[in-house]
Amino acid sequence: MAQSQIKLYYKNATADVIGHEHGITNSQLKALAEKTLPLISQLNKERKAGETAYRDLPYNVKTVQKVKELTAELKDRCENLVVLGIGGSALGNIALQTALNPYMYNLDDAQRRAPRLFVFDNIDPPQLSSFLDWLSNKLDKTIFNVISKSGRTTETAAQFMVIRKLLSDKLGPDGCKNQVVATTDPKQGVLRKIAADASLRCLEIPPGIGGRFSVLSTVGLFSAAMCGINIDLLLEGACDMDKRVSNEDFLKNPAAINAAINYHFYNHGKKISVMFPYSFHLKDLADWFRQLWAESLGKAKDLTGNEVHIGPTPVKALGTTDQHSQVQLYREGPNDKLFTFLQVKNFKKDLKIGPASACASELGFLAGKKLSELFNREKQATEFALLQDKRPCLTIIFPEVNAYTVGQFIYLFEVTTSIAGELFNVNTYNQPAVELVKVATSALMGKSGYYKRKKTYKSLANKIRSLTKIDRKFLV
Ligand code: PA5
Repeated sequence: MAQSQIKLYYKNATADVIGHEHGITNSQLKALAEKTLPLISQLNKERKAGETAYRDLPYNVKTVQKVKELTAELKDRCENLVVLGIGGSALGNIALQTALNPYMYNLDDAQRRAPRLFVFDNIDPPQLSSFLDWLSNKLDKTIFNVISKSGRTTETAAQFMVIRKLLSDKLGPDGCKNQVVATTDPKQGVLRKIAADASLRCLEIPPGIGGRFSVLSTVGLFSAAMCGINIDLLLEGACDMDKRVSNEDFLKNPAAINAAINYHFYNHGKKISVMFPYSFHLKDLADWFRQLWAESLGKAKDLTGNEVHIGPTPVKALGTTDQHSQVQLYREGPNDKLFTFLQVKNFKKDLKIGPASACASELGFLAGKKLSELFNREKQATEFALLQDKRPCLTIIFPEVNAYTVGQFIYLFEVTTSIAGELFNVNTYNQPAVELVKVATSALMGKSGYYKRKKTYKSLANKIRSLTKIDRKFLV
């Protein structure tokens, strides 16, 4: 089972199933194949030229070795692993943990083979305070993995400064050195400087890897390995998918078909893409995907500099929970969404539904059935209902959720995003719009100097204050 492959099923997005107005026709698919084919070979060439460094992460033997060495060194004295990071420096870690460790991992020692994992991807003061109150007498048994590619992200820097002080107050001058692992750029950035200055243990994020494409680097691998996840199998799964998504035969390449179908529907009024896992374990992969899709494809300008303001809006839903929250809208609201279900064939654990009470014979149809059957029938029922309303549906079928299939999924959606970026003709790997928020926050927090030629943080702070100052006339 470990070696089996995930599959993309796309029939329920076609005109044969949902009609010509909303479904994709054979001739449209053919045209998409013609448009996408040269892009696959272009990406293959770029990859050979080292321009898409994330593609080679699953083959990086040295990284795996280093991660394993550090894990072996720290594991025995670590009861709690705390990741400090945000965006691409946290979402992959969360997704791997949710996917590959049991639901009660942190709480039930019997289900936990390794340290508890806490990923802090926010700076919410009551949340962090509550956590640190719990942690304060366990600091010597806690490893903090501070992750920042740029080494200058305000939230991560602030979290780290809180922890650094706490460690030195409670454990003395060597507290930080003993309890912190810094994951950052090999050469640049403030975190690199701090790590060198304080002689912290370090892991390197290879150059050319953007945050949202970094989960298979030291960024995601260290916390995974520390928490007992089989990182070899994860990377093997990614390598398996690499072969499939490099295939220059369109109909055999799941990333090409996935990207092309998403692109088609975006251009045919379905600008929202809903990822809809029917598995708790897969729910945070939908969250990880949300960042990958949004930051990579949401762009103001295309590659020739035209103003396009383009990009599908990713939404995450969870089966069956959101059947009772979102499906009303999904069926009867605007037909502006493409659905991607994630379905699991074999669940690692299952439960049998008990007998119906004597007074409730109408529940007899459930008695004795497996919960996994009900779960998958609910997916089937939801898909059926959406198809009745001519809503296009894709499904990613997982034979089982394990490190091998999750590795495939990650790689599939990373390459899907690269191909979609080519189709949308945007720069997939930058995120210029995020920068202004970062600069503006620094300005408001009193940073001095220039953020751009001739533009000071101070003048920016004044501009922001005047624009966002509460005008009482509009306060009700
Ligand atoms: O995908 C991205 O590039 C971003 O989401 C970053 O990962 C995020 O902003 C954190 O950046 P850094 O790792 O430099 O602290």
